[in-house]
Amino acid sequence: MKTQPTFAHAPESPLLAHIEETLFSGEQIATRVTELGAEISRDYMGLDPLLVGVLRGVAVFIGDLVRAIPAPLDLDFIAISSYGTATRSSGVVRILKDLDENITGRHVLVVEDIIDTGLTLSYLMRQLLERRPASVEICTLLDKPARRLAEVPVKYVGFTIPDKFVVGYGLDYAQKYRNLPFLGVLKPEVYSR
Ligand code: IMP
Ligand code: MG
Repeated sequence: MKTQPTFAHAPESPLLAHIEETLFSGEQIATRVTELGAEISRDYMGLDPLLVGVLRGVAVFIGDLVRAIPAPLDLDFIAISSYGTATRSSGVVRILKDLDENITGRHVLVVEDIIDTGLTLSYLMRQLLERRPASVEICTLLDKPARRLAEVPVKYVGFTIPDKFVVGYGLDYAQKYRNLPFLGVLKPEVYSR
């Protein structure tokens, strides 16, 4: 089922002309995020987990996710850059902004927007494990398993999607489209021109 992409109060947004189709509406995302929050809350109750958001794509998702988790938790962020072209990552990763918290002995839940090749997260997991946390698990809003190159153990997945370039709800193309309140597929002519 294809629904029309919209902003609730601004159907004339110029961003919408670049969207081929809506993959998940704001309502569908909210329903799934609530389910993920309930599951995470059950699993981590009493463990005082540290949620680690991987900037910047995760910003919108993690804001909704933490408000769907009634268990006590801490929140921290890490920013990494993965070299590559705009739509393909290379697996060469650099930490741009490290965590503020010490994760030794902590139950860490890494929160990502999307796992594509898995190269970025497999690098990050190695870095975090060296710091001897009590546990590390991964929660991703989107999983694109078709192009996986590195094995990553993902515990929580919002939606599994086909190999399409997705924007909105925090995800960008060339830093744009993060503010779309839904997940949409970008028209290929936008990134091939
Ligand atoms: P990976 O290392 O290939 O798993 O790349 C993961 C990162 O690439 C994500 O955190 C995103 O920043 C970016 N990425 C991969 N696929 C998409 C997409 O469809 N839309 C937007 N960003 C994407
Ligand atoms: Mg990312």
